[in-house]
Amino acid sequence: MTRRRRIYEGKAKVLFEGPEPGTLVQYFKDDATAFNNQKKGVITGKGVLNNRISEYLMSRLSEIGVPTHFMRRLNMREQLVREVEIIPIEVVVRNVAAGSLSRRFGIPEGTPLPRSIIEYYYKSDELNDPMVSEEHITAFGWAGPQDLDDMVALSLRVNDYLSGLFLGIGLKLVDFKLEFGRLWENEEMRIVLADEISPDNCRLWDVKTNEKLDKDRFRQDLGRVEEAYQEVARRLGILPEG
Ligand code: C5P
Repeated sequence: MTRRRRIYEGKAKVLFEGPEPGTLVQYFKDDATAFNNQKKGVITGKGVLNNRISEYLMSRLSEIGVPTHFMRRLNMREQLVREVEIIPIEVVVRNVAAGSLSRRFGIPEGTPLPRSIIEYYYKSDELNDPMVSEEHITAFGWAGPQDLDDMVALSLRVNDYLSGLFLGIGLKLVDFKLEFGRLWENEEMRIVLADEISPDNCRLWDVKTNEKLDKDRFRQDLGRVEEAYQEVARRLGILPEG
C-alpha cells in the first residue's frame, strides 16, 4: 500500500490526499452496506466495476456540460477528483416507484410515476439520513436557495440524459441518488456533481424482464450481485478485462 493521508473513509469509498492541492484520490472498496449499516457484506470486484462505471457516466455528463468533481481514473480502484466541500444533502430522483417511496406511500414497486419526483435526505448516519424539505435545508443553512436551485436543475439534466443513455442499452433508470459539492475557482463558487454514479446508488431494471441489475440484489438477497454490476458495465461497453 502506498502511504497517503486518509481524509475520509465512507462505507464504500475512501478519500485520500491527492497529488496536487485541491485534488483527492477516491478509492472504491468492495464493501457493501444497506439499511443504514445493519446489513454488511462484500461484493467481490464491485469497487473495480463502480470505479469504471462512474468514470464513464461522469465523463459523458461532463461532455454535455454537467460540472463534476471527476478528473481522471488512475487505476483499477482509484480516480482523481477535485476536492469539494460536500453539501450534506442527498438528492434522490425517481421515475418509477420502488424502495422507500413504495414503502412510504404503499405504491406497488414498478408503478410509473406521473412525473419525475425529487426528494432530499439529510446526510447523517446517526439520524438515519432523514428525509427533509427545502424549508429544512435553507432554514438550517445546509444549502442556500440558489445552491438548491442549481442542484435541482443539474439533477433533472442528469435524469434526462442518463434515462436516455440507459434506455439505449435496455435498462430502465428507476431512481438514483446524487451528491453535490461546492468548488471555488478564482473566488467564484460553483455547484458540481460529486461522489459516484454506479449500481450502488441507481436502480436499474432490464427493460424487457424488469430484472434488477443494481444494489437491490444485495439488499434483497437476490444473488448474482457481482454479475449484475458486470452486466451493467458490459452493456455500457466498458467491462474491464480479466
Ligand atoms: O431506498 P430508497 O428507495 O429511498 O433509494 C432511492 C435511490 O437512492 C436508490 O437508487 C438507492 O440506491 C439510492 N440511495 C443511495 N444512498 C442512500 C439512500 C438511497 O444511493 N443513502
